[in-house]
Amino acid sequence: MTISKLLKETTLQEVEVKGWVRTFRANRFIALNDGSTLNNIQCVVDFENTAEETLKRITTGAAVSIKGELIESQGKGQNVEIVVSSIEILGDSDPETYPIQPKKHSFEFLRENAHLRTRTNTFSAVMRLRSALSFAVHKYFTDNGFFNMHTPIITGSDAEGAGEMFRVSTLDQKNPPLTDEGAIDHSKNFFGKDTNLTVSGQLEAETYAMSLGKVYTFGPTFRAENSNTSRHLSEFWMIEPEVAFMDLAGNMDLAEDFLKSVLTYVLDHHAEDLEFLDQRLFDEEKTKPQAERSEMRLIEKLKFVTENNFKRLSYTEAIDILKNSKPNKKKKFNYIIEEWGADLQSEHERFLVEKHFKCPVILFDYPANIKAFYMRLNEDGKTVRAMDILFPGIGEMVGGSQREERLEVLKEKMAVLDIPEEELWWYLDLRKYGTAVHSGFGLGFERLVMFTTGMGNIRDVIPYPRTPQNAEF
Ligand code: 4AD
Ligand code: MG
Repeated sequence: MTISKLLKETTLQEVEVKGWVRTFRANRFIALNDGSTLNNIQCVVDFENTAEETLKRITTGAAVSIKGELIESQGKGQNVEIVVSSIEILGDSDPETYPIQPKKHSFEFLRENAHLRTRTNTFSAVMRLRSALSFAVHKYFTDNGFFNMHTPIITGSDAEGAGEMFRVSTLDQKNPPLTDEGAIDHSKNFFGKDTNLTVSGQLEAETYAMSLGKVYTFGPTFRAENSNTSRHLSEFWMIEPEVAFMDLAGNMDLAEDFLKSVLTYVLDHHAEDLEFLDQRLFDEEKTKPQAERSEMRLIEKLKFVTENNFKRLSYTEAIDILKNSKPNKKKKFNYIIEEWGADLQSEHERFLVEKHFKCPVILFDYPANIKAFYMRLNEDGKTVRAMDILFPGIGEMVGGSQREERLEVLKEKMAVLDIPEEELWWYLDLRKYGTAVHSGFGLGFERLVMFTTGMGNIRDVIPYPRTPQNAEF
């Protein structure tokens, strides 16, 4: 039986549990954890009748198997506890060198020990919630008639056109085959062409939306951008729904409903881990100066998002607000907003969300030239039907758009951006055969886990983060 189940038991019985010792106090009380829940079960050892040798081996981090009787707890803090009848040490842990001591560790230290950090309350709670959120994502789409699609991880295209890709190659790096012109000859490469790790499954998802109707992909994506921030990973998981016959307004409705639904799911089903993280964050906030503290506690914030409408406004309206904002006028922004057309930096997004509206914001109708090639051009000829969803403390959570469904307009756009038609012939085919309005978005899963758990660094919500200069484990 798992400790999670045991702690809810009301019938007193003989039990057997296996787990790792968190602490061993007074040669008598073991706090045992098996990862199934935040809570430990207290196991009371009869030290007078246990071999000295065994007692010495009950150390923090050791794996043990315990048999005993489940009884109503005599002490405070738990309903039941185990009176140990026999204990077997499955795996010793050297108390001198075990990194996860029963005390507070810095997240930096735990990142260096990421293989053991899920033996702490914080990281086990975060990773159980990550798992729950992943389930909630699949549940939401399944319940709403979407089909899950596995888009390829190795591709020959750059969906976002940003050129931030990791090359996949089996060519000899020191001595690659060359063409007559002296360029690397990718016809000799493994796939007979130049390939890379995908930056997004969107383009392939579009092909399935245009046949299966409503689809989503949820898989790893890779970006070779050199941004060492608390919100960027080189390898992250993205959720990308794509829907035929849906326009930008429908896309915003879908994204908002989806986000509220998955947050509601964890609020309803994972209160224990959330309450722990709520308290953790509250304690951490108390160490900050008053002005920097968050106005809401974690759970309050999650409920606020599920219960209130997101604020929707156009890029043009946002620029007006930013131009007239205090930090812009007082030149407090690093990038001063001078005119329409400026790309929004995270400082601007955060101002809108955290200072101005104080709620999630959906910005739409961005200037065409700061967005990807596939977005639907508006009738004004200068904006596209794009939308970004901005969250407090996170910035951009979602990026999506209605897709350009008109063959000629799409071809023109690709020509301007030097995207060869031969590379995306199949993508253009969708516009030749039964084209229709369709839309979708991408949500960075780790940013969702950050928001849900209140963790401030994206490296702490994925098991083994990949970032520039770091691919340990
Ligand atoms: O805005 P992005 O680049 O959009 C796309 O890739 C579209 N093809 C999605 C679509 O329409 N199907 O990325 C989508 C989201 C961002 O809003 C952000 O949450 C996350 O992916 N994201 C990252 N998360 C972690 N690390 C990075 N380096 C990220 N880059 C984007
Ligand atoms: Mg984006």
